[in-house]
Amino acid sequence: MLAPIHDRLKAELTQLKDQQRYRQLPNLEHQGRYVISHGKTLLNIASNDYLGLSGDIALQHEFFENLQQLPTAHLPKMSATSSRLLTGNDAQLQLLENELAQWYELAGGEYGGNKKAALVINSGYHANIGILPALTALPVKTLILADKLVHASIIDGIRLSQNKACTYRRYRHNDYAHLATLLAQVEDTVERIIIITESIFSMDGDRADLPALVQLKAKDARIELYVDEAHAVGVLGKQGCGLAEETQTLADIDYVVGTFGKAFASIGAYILCDDTVKSWLVNHMRPLIFSTALPPINHAWSRFILAKMPELQASRQHLAQISVQLGQAISPSHRASSAPQDVSYQSPIVPYILGDNARTIAKAAQLQAAGFYALPIRPPTVPANTARIRLVMNAKITTADCARLIEHL
Ligand SMILES: Cc1ncc(COP(=O)(O)O)c(C=O)c1O
Repeated sequence: MLAPIHDRLKAELTQLKDQQRYRQLPNLEHQGRYVISHGKTLLNIASNDYLGLSGDIALQHEFFENLQQLPTAHLPKMSATSSRLLTGNDAQLQLLENELAQWYELAGGEYGGNKKAALVINSGYHANIGILPALTALPVKTLILADKLVHASIIDGIRLSQNKACTYRRYRHNDYAHLATLLAQVEDTVERIIIITESIFSMDGDRADLPALVQLKAKDARIELYVDEAHAVGVLGKQGCGLAEETQTLADIDYVVGTFGKAFASIGAYILCDDTVKSWLVNHMRPLIFSTALPPINHAWSRFILAKMPELQASRQHLAQISVQLGQAISPSHRASSAPQDVSYQSPIVPYILGDNARTIAKAAQLQAAGFYALPIRPPTVPANTARIRLVMNAKITTADCARLIEHL
């Protein structure tokens, strides 16, 4: 590397340190619901393992025992070795897609949700940066309207979608009056409007009002809904299909994105959409076409967890109960400004907002000293002056653990 560039990078990194924004990769070991950091055992309240499945040793044993029953020739491979369009479209992947479609059919069936197709993608990041540019590749005048707080992967997907035909605007977080105003301003020449939201917001832990979005959609035939359920899948809904299941809006959402790296304790993602869109994505979605598929062994694990999802309702209920217990203990001055007034269950993500970076870092250190693996989240991950500890519950955390955490807030 050229010396002047090296010096410049160093100077920028020093500046990040001065602004308390320098990031470092932590060294961690995992043990059930705990992590071991610098030799200290801490309750993990920072991961997205909402159902606590990643540390469930019994579950892992069951998975490996099932594998041992298989003839060696049928053992899922450890690598796909190429993209799905070459040799990577393994049987495990196809089974996983069929089972996902069935899962959603079951979740939507009670209220007439029509059957959709599932397409598995390597990660939620790949999904969001790949689907949007593919959807907007046609020369059709398109406007994307996205919630102000959508995840970085969606923002990157929107950036990659901008072309002569596609523009975008952001509406204030969960402010559907603002969204309606923007919709009223859309020119007649716009042929297509894609509204994008998360269902549970990753950093604020609050929910989108999906029925309200469906109502808006019903007013204009040009509108399509794109909902990222990364933090709701496995967590909400009787089958675990997320907020769309819980609010019975599945049939009205054109593109449902889910991920396996959080409540599923696996890796990967998927989109649920109609068959034609699936074929379009297979032909145009660059991260799917130009990246090696995930290993079949990984898809086998995702299938194993998927089969268990409907049975995990008791875990989801416990998770809701401790999340409300924690949420009620956060004083209004530490809640997100957009947080609903009542403290009804939103999600397992409970932000504890301190505003200032240094204060947030100090609070995280204090919680770590008290035995909790709590992490500071700072801008640019969250908006300026809203640095926070993102407290995250999971179903293996006990009511007593939660009460002890509350004592230290
Ligand atoms: C809302 C949302 N979408 C997508 C992603 C990316 O998912 P993945 O970790 O599978 O890349 C995340 C990651 O945290 C997220 O919060």
